[in-house]
Amino acid sequence: MPAPMNDRDLMLFTQYVASLSGIRLDSSKKYLLESRLDDLMRETKSATYADLYSRARADGTRALERQIIDAVSTNETYFFREPKAYELLKTKLVPELLGEQLDRPLAFWSAASSTGQEAYTLAMVLEQILFDLSKAKLRVTGTDISEAAVNTANRCEYTPHEVGRGLDSKQIAKYFTRWGERYKVRDDLRSICRFSVDNLLAPKTLGPFDVIFCRNVLIYFSAADKAKVVDNLVSRLKKGGALIVGGAESLLGVTERVRRREHQGATYYVAAS
Ligand SMILES: C[S@@+](CC[C@H](N)C(=O)[O-])C[C@H]1O[C@@H](n2cnc3c(N)ncnc32)[C@H](O)[C@@H]1O
Repeated sequence: MPAPMNDRDLMLFTQYVASLSGIRLDSSKKYLLESRLDDLMRETKSATYADLYSRARADGTRALERQIIDAVSTNETYFFREPKAYELLKTKLVPELLGEQLDRPLAFWSAASSTGQEAYTLAMVLEQILFDLSKAKLRVTGTDISEAAVNTANRCEYTPHEVGRGLDSKQIAKYFTRWGERYKVRDDLRSICRFSVDNLLAPKTLGPFDVIFCRNVLIYFSAADKAKVVDNLVSRLKKGGALIVGGAESLLGVTERVRRREHQGATYYVAAS
């Protein structure tokens, strides 16, 4: 049984996690942090949180660092989360980007894609617009700092509970095939999606992209990290492209590089010219 987390351990971990990922965990998250690190404490036989920290710092493979990020990141997501964003895509952004040319190449980025539901929802919406994805030239890139989340996204299999969050039975039957106890995303939707591990603070993902979804992650960052992340995103946006953040997030006062737009109650940002 590890010793309880003391104030020094708490500071060590919150600073460590923030330096790796930008995720801020304030002191009120002490018990959450303890419970999330519980398995790792046991696996690594660490007597104190300071031991676990030292082990992670000394691990040249960085495997323990990745496990810590997996443990502390909040991967909450579901299909068709905040549906106004998908309506915006369907009724305005994609029709305008395609114009008359239905096979115009378009690139989408689900930045902080968690376990993949956002990227696969994008693929579902694109299929609703174009009907036949095999004739279109579409690419959905999903990235997340959590390797475990990216592995789940790549597996593209979800439990009945996961598909039931956001999708009705007709949609489940349409977009998935039954895979034992689970549901597997249809091949044509899967084929336009690619997932990889990437850190929004220093992204290797280059783009450029026509539409970037970066939702429900900016809330975890300090003002300085948020500005840095948004700058990284805007730099990867094509001319005429759109950036969509979470419903509870705003770019007001964060950057001069975007202009806010609204369509039927949905907010998005375009690069300032
Ligand atoms: C709450 S989920 C949001 C998932 C999805 N965008 C949505 O809105 O449903 C936040 C995700 O951000 C990821 N994340 C946190 N910090 C990150 C960083 N610096 N770079 C990339 N992803 C990060 C977490 O691992 C987690 O999967």
